Amino acid sequence: MSAGLRLAGYTRRYAGLLLLSVFLMAVMGAMTAARTLLIKPVMERVLSPAPDPKPVELFTIPLVNYKIYLEKIFPASIHDIFTIVAISILTIFIVRGACDYLGDYLTNYVGFRVVTDLRNQVFAKLLRHGADFFEANSTGRLMSSVMSDIERIQTACSDMFADLLRQTFSMLGLMIVVFGTDWRLGLFAFLLLPFIMIPTARLGSRIRRTARRTQDATGELNEVLQEAISGHQVVKAFGAERYEAGRFQAAADRLLHVNMRKVLLQGIPSPFIELAGAVTFVGLLWYGRIEIQRGILKAGDFMSFLLALLFLYEPFKRLTNLHNIFQQAIGASEKVFGYLDQPEEITSKPGAKRLTGFRDSIEYAAVSFQYPTAESKQLDNVTLRIGAGEIVALVGPSGAGKSTFASLLPRFRDPVAGAVKIDGVDVREISLDSLRENISLVAQETFLFNDTVAANIAYGLENADKARLIEAAKAALAHDFIEQMPQGYETIIGERGLKLSGGQRQRLAIARAIFRNSPILILDEATSHLDNESEMLVQKALANLMTGRTVIVIAHRISTVRRANKIVVLDKGRIAEIGTHDELMELGGTYHRLHELQFAMVDTAVDL
Ligand SMILES: Nc1ncnc2c1ncn2[C@@H]1O[C@H](COP(=O)(O)OP(=O)(O)O)[C@@H](O)[C@H]1O
Ligand SMILES: [Mg+2]
Repeated sequence: MSAGLRLAGYTRRYAGLLLLSVFLMAVMGAMTAARTLLIKPVMERVLSPAPDPKPVELFTIPLVNYKIYLEKIFPASIHDIFTIVAISILTIFIVRGACDYLGDYLTNYVGFRVVTDLRNQVFAKLLRHGADFFEANSTGRLMSSVMSDIERIQTACSDMFADLLRQTFSMLGLMIVVFGTDWRLGLFAFLLLPFIMIPTARLGSRIRRTARRTQDATGELNEVLQEAISGHQVVKAFGAERYEAGRFQAAADRLLHVNMRKVLLQGIPSPFIELAGAVTFVGLLWYGRIEIQRGILKAGDFMSFLLALLFLYEPFKRLTNLHNIFQQAIGASEKVFGYLDQPEEITSKPGAKRLTGFRDSIEYAAVSFQYPTAESKQLDNVTLRIGAGEIVALVGPSGAGKSTFASLLPRFRDPVAGAVKIDGVDVREISLDSLRENISLVAQETFLFNDTVAANIAYGLENADKARLIEAAKAALAHDFIEQMPQGYETIIGERGLKLSGGQRQRLAIARAIFRNSPILILDEATSHLDNESEMLVQKALANLMTGRTVIVIAHRISTVRRANKIVVLDKGRIAEIGTHDELMELGGTYHRLHELQFAMVDTAVDL
């Protein structure tokens, strides 16, 4: 199905309103045509020194040959021609104006509605994408395509669509006047049409291509901007302002270049049509004069004809321009629909079971994983059983695959071979929302939303129980510093929580996890960013969080690991050793080596 048709499909819910606006615009078009017909009684009766006494024959509707007489529309009591013409003019302009305004309002309403629906759909789709998608697409580019593609569609759907109806119906009405008055003369005037239309259409497709390039260049610009904003500290620290400015300028230059090319192309159709119009006018004057001299045509009819033709110029000009804009919108909707149709990497199977509570065990059964862009496996045939209530520590050198291992449990990614099971059920058979409800994650980087402290702790839940929220904050050792904030729990935290220290951010993340109260917990180097003092607090908060849960803890400090029921040593994607601290120390393998390495450094061992 073409993008245009598919976009049109979005109006189905608003079909009634759309039909009404089409009707209003049709009336408007008829009034536009009637406007030009009134010139005849004005010329022949109102302004004539010797008025024709016969009733004014306004127009013969072509094909049905029905003659419309102006006087017959009015009651017999009104017979003064000036009054009749005056009332007609005023009525036509009032009706035309009212229909135009209402029709415009309604089409805009439908257009904005459609775009709002589409925008919501795109955002919902964005949220359903897996980790791979977000790694493959930069934030700037994604934002640009969500915002600017849809903006383009919005222009076409609202303003431009109203204009399309307006100009189309005006054109129809005026065409009827032109051909109804004198079809030979009409035909003569329209002979020039293909010479105008064909080159314009060709230009249209070129403009469409340029428009796409404009968008890519805008995306690139956004990307640089976005990176410079979120990485402002790095930019400053490395004195890279000039480098970034240069990058930005290069991208801006590319945008300038494609924009100018677009302007160059877009400007061509208008002067072209104007010249063709002037040529037509001279020809018509010549032909019309001959017909009037022969008595075939009356001067009044010729005036209506010319006026209608003159008015036709506007719809023609607008419609060719509109054509360009719709071409761009079609291009944009192709991109948006292409995006909407992208398969989602991670979805719930139809009829997937809900996970209600967690009773027995988490099992990794011969699990292998490889990133789409990687050359070798990051997890190679890993088998591990974690019993309910167990604390399992994952240790190993950086890049061993620890985070990757943990990310398979909440299905941020799916394994390429083997299966991850909860209580014996493959996580791919469990509905996503219920799976993730049962798992909390506290990672190295905490993302805090630019919202109140309370909303960040109760993230995703509305009308959270305030008492329970405070309890969670207390258990996370966050209550005291929250109380000291200007508005306590109602204080707005800045973007990425910049107003908070690392330890405070982490304790908010822990409060969030405690509040969520899910049976399974993943801690991925939750303390590795922190200085010793904050780490001590965070460790205490973590201990509160871990009680009564099944925990996978990835830790860089051996001290964190000692209390685990089971220590799993990962190395190059394989399980190298499993055991308790003492067992592994005795074994004298990788764990022993890591342990020695830790002691070689100044380590303030903080026990859980
Ligand atoms: N998104 C990704 N795309 C490709 N390779 C990745 C991606 N994330 C991690 N890797 C690679 O996978 C390996 C394991 O990474 P990770 O699980 O983060 O290790 P760890 O948490 O043990 O430090 C590393 O070699 C890393 O370079
Ligand atoms: Mg990691």
